Amino acid sequence: MKHKVWMVELEDALRRGTLVRVSLGAPAPGVAAPKVLARPVTLKGGDRLQVVTRHPTRDVTQNYTWVDGLAELAARVPEHYRSIHISTTERTTALTWTGDRMRRVDGPPVATEPADTRHDRAPQRAVPPDHRWIDALGGGGKSGTVEKKRQIDHFVEVLHQWLGGASRPEGGFTRWLDVGSGSGAMTFALWHYLRTTGFSAAEVVGIELRPELAARTERVARSLGCDGLSFVAGTVEAAPAGPVDGVIALHACDVATDDALAAGVAAGARLLMVAPCCHKELRGALAPPAPLDTILRHGILKTREADLVTDALRAAALEAAGYDARVFEFVSSEHTDKNLMITGARRAAPADGAAERLTALATFYGVRHQRLADRLGLSLERPRA
Ligand SMILES: C[S@@+](CC[C@H](N)C(=O)[O-])C[C@H]1O[C@@H](n2cnc3c(N)ncnc32)[C@H](O)[C@@H]1O
Repeated sequence: MKHKVWMVELEDALRRGTLVRVSLGAPAPGVAAPKVLARPVTLKGGDRLQVVTRHPTRDVTQNYTWVDGLAELAARVPEHYRSIHISTTERTTALTWTGDRMRRVDGPPVATEPADTRHDRAPQRAVPPDHRWIDALGGGGKSGTVEKKRQIDHFVEVLHQWLGGASRPEGGFTRWLDVGSGSGAMTFALWHYLRTTGFSAAEVVGIELRPELAARTERVARSLGCDGLSFVAGTVEAAPAGPVDGVIALHACDVATDDALAAGVAAGARLLMVAPCCHKELRGALAPPAPLDTILRHGILKTREADLVTDALRAAALEAAGYDARVFEFVSSEHTDKNLMITGARRAAPADGAAERLTALATFYGVRHQRLADRLGLSLERPRA
């Protein structure tokens, strides 16, 4: 087996008992690769690496000796999976491959407790089996309901990757905002996930521009007795005062995504999760040098380029504001073309060079203003030499 640095580190984390979990993602083009999760377990026969392959209709669980388990992962990465996330009690490491080039991002640990290695522990379902509220909220007919459940499942899975192994606060209190809560299905899912995974006193506030939607979801929350879940009408400015640990904004329209991120950063939120929707702000504002300007001669390419640059600037602005930013596919593009997710996990201080990367990208594209950067007070112009 070829010795890869990440495998040596993984083996070291296994031996020292600091490994929490490993996940493989980003299937290589043309490879139908379901999600794979691995964690240490202790069985009668000794310590093992449990590898769970998540097929659409069932999970396949295999328990390997450490050596075989590592070989199994090494056989899949990076050939079949172009990313691996390793979570230990010391740090999180995200490795992604583009061609032969590997990019490595280390961040603070999301879990401070070692993995619970009991094989027979209560199964940590990524998706709580309670979809009661979907019927109460109205999912837009049968296909709408199926699609919504799919989105909820993906969202909760991402949430679980971040929070599944994190330590729970004493008293179980945490407070989250959902900006652009719409029909409320994701807000209920967030609240339910938090309340059933150790954040027993979680508060979640859904904020929705359309008063009739906010009123309806509030009624459903009250009728189902969802303590700690509430909805208010307005923009993020309507959020009730109080601490904020996390902010989500899923397909909130245009710059509502930026406003949600900016509010989360201002409140010192530890985790930000957004799935951007329409991107109007930078259409018409891009002025890259030749030959890239050729792309902008075609309407559809101009739109896509503006989407790409907007999200890249958002991620760069988050990094300049002291967050580890990640951008990945949220739901398969087969279901929606608005399928990107940007997450930000607060770090102790901005990464070296983050502000410079932001201004370099903006300058290259001739962008002077972008809503998130503006709201965070980050200049997009390079200081004059
Ligand atoms: C496409 S829906 C998404 C709803 C929900 N987040 C979901 O994923 O199911 C977007 C919602 O954002 C709301 N919205 C748009 N701009 C907003 C803003 N600035 N502040 C709060 N809500 C906003 C819209 O009224 C709409 O209900």
